[in-house]
Order: sequence, then structure tokens, then C-alpha cells
Amino acid sequence: MKTVKVKVPATTANLGPGFDVLGASLSLYNELEVSLVENSKKAKFVVLGEGRKILPRNENNILWKAMNAVFCLLSVNDKYNLKNFNIKLTNNIPLSSGLGSSSAARAAGIIAANKICGNKLTLIEMAQLGVKLEGHPDNIIPAFYGGVCISINNGDDKIEVVKLPIPKIKAVVCTPGFELATERSRNILPLKYDRKDVVFNIARVALLIKAFYINDFKVLKEAMKDKIHQPYRAKLIPVMQELIDCAVKAGAYGAYLSGAGPSMIAFCNKEKAQNVTNVMARIWKRETIPTKTFILDFDKSGAM
Ligand code: HSE
Repeated sequence: MKTVKVKVPATTANLGPGFDVLGASLSLYNELEVSLVENSKKAKFVVLGEGRKILPRNENNILWKAMNAVFCLLSVNDKYNLKNFNIKLTNNIPLSSGLGSSSAARAAGIIAANKICGNKLTLIEMAQLGVKLEGHPDNIIPAFYGGVCISINNGDDKIEVVKLPIPKIKAVVCTPGFELATERSRNILPLKYDRKDVVFNIARVALLIKAFYINDFKVLKEAMKDKIHQPYRAKLIPVMQELIDCAVKAGAYGAYLSGAGPSMIAFCNKEKAQNVTNVMARIWKRETIPTKTFILDFDKSGAM
């Protein structure tokens, strides 16, 4: 029996001003084990951890859809179907939380299926298929590549990836106990922007990239400001600005809405991480919303 294993990191997108462009992978992982079974009656689809009670364990699961997309691309989809596999997915990444859970599922499915097919697809081919399934690149590219990534989408799903230096700082993640579908969080955004808001973000993306290159994290407070998505999404997460301000006051370099939310992330040094966590968690507690917190590092290698 052939078994393949994949470990895939959580990701955080936007990093403040880099809407749909900047993303990073974090040291929180989902794990997938897939085995080919000889007797299809023995095939099992097991989900443990996050989403175990709600994720479909059938053809509608996005992990399976991603596996099947690889089989279609390699023209072996008539050879493999769901009942050929034992699938065990162990999820640690909270669902619909702005931490790339859907990217992780898709990346895991693509990599597992590619391993089953003898690694015919290259990294960029897998990543491009992932972007096609996911719709935008900034969460799924770092799941494949690891570290901090700039994803440049040339418009027809040909993605160019530029990797930035990995900063030696902690990511304090504060995930409130409610889910926010990416679609809902994207639908709230305007279709057109004022030129001054666009220029505001371009300047801050440039500053942020410089900060990562020269390890100058003092500028992150300014560099992580955004006028493209956070102000609109604040309607869905009313304490967003308070969380950012209090995290910075508690010693964080900067803080932002992770991806489409609702998780908030503060970047800080190791010494400040626990204090920043406590301050952010206290705000959600006051709102009577339960919270999960994680103090994470940047993941270096991406899915394996
Ligand atoms: N850049 C995306 C967004 C990330 O903010 O909507 C979510 O996948």
C-alpha cells in the first residue's frame, strides 16, 4: 500500500497594506495522510481536529477536489477516485479564520496527489493550480513556498513568486470564536478606490519590504497601515482598530487583520509576545467572544 504524507502551514495574507499580494507562512500545521487501498470498501475519510464535525468527507471536500484537479491535469482521473483512498486529515488551523485553512487544504491535496502520481508537477505548476482553485494567490503561495512571499499575478494565473527575507520576530495570532467566510469579507470591499488611498498603500508596501530586508521593525507601525481593505472590513470586526492600537501600545511593532479575517496578528519581539497576546485576548473577552491565541514563528519551508 502506498502512503503519502503532507504537512502544510497556516498562512497570513495582506500583512496590512499588501492586499492580494503579500503573504507569509506560519508555524501552525495541518497534516494529511493518504493511502491507496486495494479494497474500495475499506476506504475511509477521517477528519480530526478543526472542522471535524462539519467538513464534508466526500467529493465535496476541497481537499479531494484539489487532489482530483491534479488527477485531471495529469489525465489519470479515470484511474483514481475517492474510494481508492484512505484519507486522514489532522487540522490545527482554525477554519474561516483568516489563517489560510482553505489554502492549506488545497495545497495538501495538490501535493499529495502529485506525490501519488510520481511528482510529475513542479512546485510552480502546483502553486499555479492552487491559485486557480483558491482565486487569489497571497494565502496559497506561501503555503507552497514558505516564508514571506510577494505573489505577482500576471492576469492569466501565471504567478511569479518573490521571496523576502524571513524576519526574526514572532507573530501573535488572536482568533475570535466566530468564522468569517472569505467571500463575505471580500464582498464588502469597494470595486473602485480613490487614487490617494492606493498611493497610501503602495508607499507602505515599499516601506514594509525595506523593513524586512534591513530588519528595521520600528517602521512596521506605519508600514502595516492600510486603506484598501481593513477600513471596510472593520464593519465586520468592530474592535479591529482597538486591537491594533492596544497591541502596539503593549509593545508590538505593528498589527493587522490577517487575510480576510477575523484573526488579528501582531508582529513583536519574543519578550513582548505574551503581553501582547494577553492584551488582545482581553479585548475579545470584554466583548464576550471566546478567543484562541497562538504565538508563532514564520515557517521557513512551506508544505512538505
Ligand atoms: N487577500 C485576500 C483577502 C486573502 O484579503 O481577501 C483572503 O484569502
